[in-house]
Amino acid sequence: MSLEVRAFDAPLGAEIIGLDLNDPLGPETVETINQAFFDHHVLAIRDQDISMDRFMDVAGCFGTLQSQHVKHYAHPNTDKVSMISPQLNDDRSGPNAKPLYRGITFHTDHSYFPVPCKATLLHAKQTPSKGGDTRFLNMHTVYDDLTEEMKNKVDGLNCLHRLAGSRRNKTGRVMSDEEIQNSPTAVHPLVWVHEDTGRKAIYFNPNRMDGIEGWSDEDSDALLDELEALSFQARYEYRHKWKPHDVVIWDNRSVLHAATDDYDEPRLLHRILLEGTKPS
Ligand code: SIN
Repeated sequence: MSLEVRAFDAPLGAEIIGLDLNDPLGPETVETINQAFFDHHVLAIRDQDISMDRFMDVAGCFGTLQSQHVKHYAHPNTDKVSMISPQLNDDRSGPNAKPLYRGITFHTDHSYFPVPCKATLLHAKQTPSKGGDTRFLNMHTVYDDLTEEMKNKVDGLNCLHRLAGSRRNKTGRVMSDEEIQNSPTAVHPLVWVHEDTGRKAIYFNPNRMDGIEGWSDEDSDALLDELEALSFQARYEYRHKWKPHDVVIWDNRSVLHAATDDYDEPRLLHRILLEGTKPS
């Protein structure tokens, strides 16, 4: 069966059909998937019953695997794979322990490092019968739809990204004082020109920023609030409904993503990050 790239009925995303990731990926297949990745930004490949080693091999066809910086969530056998599962998170252990749902606000992975990862891959090991979707926003279209006045305003601005940034949602994961003090930081253009396609996207990380470089807090918050309101709209969104053995890969330069916390059955995803290059 030949490979088919079938775009979703959504503002981004496509399914790759006719692929068995247990088979070796030839150069033509890798090129087709890479092109689909640039065109659609989020790719889903269903029914992939693959081992963790094979998942790492497949990811390696598309870039260099990066170590997970939060060691706490790393797989016991390798820090190149992390485990996403509210049931495994023990941050809130003790008699009142509750599952901890991570990443439930829109974000892009690792923007607070000078060289953020370019892509994230997830492999679904266990999924709830209902809920637990992952949401994606097309940040190229968000930029394209800005008024000319807004484009002129945002082009050329830089944004200060910080893991423990002042705009973070304080209801998220509890951070120790040490973690806050040593929080990684980076400065990136607010409008990112994608190195492979030349397309512009709004590049920001709502929960992991201090603000616009050189601007007062008030002006910076007003602009970022406005950009968030413009971005968080259904017309930019694809929502992935997980099934066991799904593999999903997305481009962190092109999309924001968010998990959902509307389930209480077990959910376990393996995650791999691919190294990126410095944004321009
Ligand atoms: C993530 O934020 O990387 C994970 C998304 C999810 O759990 O759905």
